[in-house]
Amino acid sequence: MRRFRFDEEADVAADIRGKYGFDGELLEIFAGNTGAVVHKWHHYIPLYDRYLARFRDRPVRFLEIGVHKGGSLQMWRRYLGEQATLFGIDTDPDCATYDGAAGAVRIGSQTDTQFLSEVVAEMGGLDVVLDDGSHRMAHVRATFRHLFPLLDQGGLYMVEDLHTAYLPRFGGGHGTRTNFFAFMAELADDMHRWYHKEGLHHPGLSERVSGLHVHDSIAVIDKEPVHRPVHSRVG
Ligand SMILES: C[S@@+](CC[C@H](N)C(=O)[O-])C[C@H]1O[C@@H](n2cnc3c(N)ncnc32)[C@H](O)[C@@H]1O
Repeated sequence: MRRFRFDEEADVAADIRGKYGFDGELLEIFAGNTGAVVHKWHHYIPLYDRYLARFRDRPVRFLEIGVHKGGSLQMWRRYLGEQATLFGIDTDPDCATYDGAAGAVRIGSQTDTQFLSEVVAEMGGLDVVLDDGSHRMAHVRATFRHLFPLLDQGGLYMVEDLHTAYLPRFGGGHGTRTNFFAFMAELADDMHRWYHKEGLHHPGLSERVSGLHVHDSIAVIDKEPVHRPVHSRVG
């Protein structure tokens, strides 16, 4: 996506601050990074902070799919703090060199459900998943199907770089059924199951979805206890 590349001589922090009005600590951690390379779209930074701030300096169990150069794990360690249990997975065996640097790294595929279960068991459970892996639509959906049920209540599931949902080479496309946002729309139908008679698209999965958030290329799915809604007239 070269045409979206920011001029690397220019001021990254000023761009994020100016466009999104964000001046939180994650801005300095990202824009001031002189360690392992981390490559993020600018608008992700305030969004990460919006959803992840409540997990800072807590014993959060955070799994990132896609380690690459190890830079994002380093960013999450700086941001989330020492209490976080931080794991990254990647298919690239070279990523094993980052194991133990900012977090644990395990080598395997996001499509291998047994591997995923072993990683979650080693983590002692799961509060946050950030899928920045293959970005292939079939993989993103299959990984969600397996990991969302393993998330603890109060957890969240984030998928990034979902511009790929519009790219045929990732199995996506505008208006296609495989586009991850079509799956999100099905989850929205299921969330509103009380108000229609069409049944669930994803029984056993969607009943625990308590919130769906769509941003440019980022989807966030909340997991909390869901109750049949009621309303009252008071006063
Ligand atoms: C976009 S990079 C991750 C970047 C990293 N999170 C960061 O922000 O610096 C994507 C990574 O996903 C890995 N990957 C590709 N297919 C995968 C799969 N099926 N399972 C796990 N990781 C995969 C690639 O090897 C690559 O390192």
